[in-house]
Amino acid sequence: MRLDRFVCRSTHLNKDQVTKVIQDGHVFVNGNPVNNPVQQVHENNTIILDGEKLRPRKPRYILMNKPADTICSNIDEAYPSLFNYLDIENLSELHIAGRLDADTTGLVLITDDGRWSYHVTHPQYLCEKVYRVSLRAPLTEEARTVLTKGVLLQGEEEPTHPAKIQIIHSKQVLLTITEGRFHQVKRMFAAVGNRVVALHREKIGSIQLNVDEGKWRYLTSDEVNALKR
Ligand code: URA
Repeated sequence: MRLDRFVCRSTHLNKDQVTKVIQDGHVFVNGNPVNNPVQQVHENNTIILDGEKLRPRKPRYILMNKPADTICSNIDEAYPSLFNYLDIENLSELHIAGRLDADTTGLVLITDDGRWSYHVTHPQYLCEKVYRVSLRAPLTEEARTVLTKGVLLQGEEEPTHPAKIQIIHSKQVLLTITEGRFHQVKRMFAAVGNRVVALHREKIGSIQLNVDEGKWRYLTSDEVNALKR
């Protein structure tokens, strides 16, 4: 990881303060002074700030049930940020592994482990995301077949990966996809002439949403490891 991230993760200094202490020569890596905040370091390196050995905090893995009219961003914009619901320290170190739209509700995973979130979000790892999709019009058999095989979204050149669809009733389905393209679910149903009127994410990989709206909990180590595969 970058030296400035390592120092951020090991102290209560903010980003600007970290950059300054590094540039001012207060930080030593394996005995050598390092002034470059973006230098790559390894967690096993001995990193000293003003004579004190730094130890990064353990990575955090959080599950949250996102309410509607909140945004998956670290700052409030048109809607309040999801992070307002998290009463824990060092929020700026966290990011969301697979954002939801402001009007989408349900399962969101939050972490400071970039490698782990890459496993969750990158399509090559085929991590399944399950959405409960409420539709304006009944889903036709033809549309179901198209979506299941993969559909070309407007403005794109590659069709979506094959999806699974379980019918709950004519205007509600459980959709399972392994990608996270921009507004993917809404655009998939638009591509077959329908419209999503409500969207709720219920599951990511083996992790099922099991907290009330606006609530959160830490993932267990089994849950964290299951998503690494
Ligand atoms: N697909 C969408 O269209 N919106 C979301 O929030 C998530 C997936």
